[in-house]
Amino acid sequence: MIKVLFVCLGNICRSPMAEAIFRDMVKKEGLTNDIQVDSAGTGDWHIGHPPHKGTQTILTKYKVSFEGIKARKVIQEDLEQFDYIIAMDSDNLKNLKKMTSTTKTGQIKRLLDFVEDSKVTDVPDPYYTGNFDETYELVSNGCKRLLDVIKKENFVGKE
Ligand code: 4NP
Repeated sequence: MIKVLFVCLGNICRSPMAEAIFRDMVKKEGLTNDIQVDSAGTGDWHIGHPPHKGTQTILTKYKVSFEGIKARKVIQEDLEQFDYIIAMDSDNLKNLKKMTSTTKTGQIKRLLDFVEDSKVTDVPDPYYTGNFDETYELVSNGCKRLLDVIKKENFVGKE
């Protein structure tokens, strides 16, 4: 089982959006039994809360289920247990790297690092910008590329 964790600040806007989109892609590819998806926040303000209304609205628009998704805070064990830890922006990446030993930071990357031709490296935070459409665009593109990489790294030639 390959374990993927998306991380943002509050775990109510960007990373639950990524979790829902990626979970949907994994399901459509028939990989539900191979790839486990979760999300968490570096902050603790919204623990137990469902995704932000703006995230709910855009996911509903694109018919992506967010059933069962609730905010939690990232914990030390996550860094040991997840194979791919995907930060939404450079601050999240910095905070995650602070939580772990320097030898174990290789599996922590920003989502848009997987988009070779991306003009931006950080997913803008719609909690502040209010632009959930822009976030959806960037997150879904990043998730597509991430899934390609995970498939290449783990499944190619192993069927
Ligand atoms: P997120 O956005 O990191 O994409 O979930 C935020 C949500 C809440 C807060 C900050 C960012 N907050 O300060 O409560």
